[in-house]
Amino acid sequence: MILRTSVSRLVPVVLLAVAAAGCGDESPTMPSQTLYEKYGGAPSIAKVVDDAVVGLLADPVVAPFFAGLGQPGNSSPDRLKSCLRLQFTVLMGGPGSYPGVNDQGDTCADMASSHAGLGIPGAVFDKFVMDLGGVLKADGVADADITIIAGAVSGLKPQIVSATPVDKTACDGGTAP
Ligand code: HEM
Repeated sequence: MILRTSVSRLVPVVLLAVAAAGCGDESPTMPSQTLYEKYGGAPSIAKVVDDAVVGLLADPVVAPFFAGLGQPGNSSPDRLKSCLRLQFTVLMGGPGSYPGVNDQGDTCADMASSHAGLGIPGAVFDKFVMDLGGVLKADGVADADITIIAGAVSGLKPQIVSATPVDKTACDGGTAP
């Protein structure tokens, strides 16, 4: 059974709070912009996801947990990236909802279902988030916004880490079968 859990949207970034002095109890005008809009929408999300996947698969701590990608019954790399595009779109205040239908027309699974049985330790999750932060920085996202995104992503931790974590770092760096 697929669990249905929703990912909260980030609170939009408030760029300006215009409150005219001496205007009594009028509500201030609050033009706002989401992080999705601020960083250029879909093309920027696609670049961040592409860069993140390259970086994660090059990280010897994280990569062993992706060894089953593309094997029967598991997500393909294309599906993973498409679901990540949807997820980061939603996390950054863009259109859609997660879990939901990605830009390939596939329905992405919720985080608990997607990661069940992978045995992901908390420390590996934390490294994943650090790697992601590095990619966001390299792709031009401001530090304050990285903190917001990392906070939203970290909120997914309880759904992703395993109660029975697997150590894939022993002896050979996790490359042995
Ligand atoms: C905040 C952190 C994470 C996010 C946002 C995330 C997001 C996702 C998404 C969107 C999918 C695709 C779901 C689908 O195909 O329906 C997925 C699958 C997967 N994730 Fe994550 N993930 C995170 C952390 C991790 C970590 C730390 C690892 C391993 C170190 C990991 C390993 C995997 C693997 C191997 C799959 C494919 C599962 C399968 O098809 O059997 N993820 N993840």
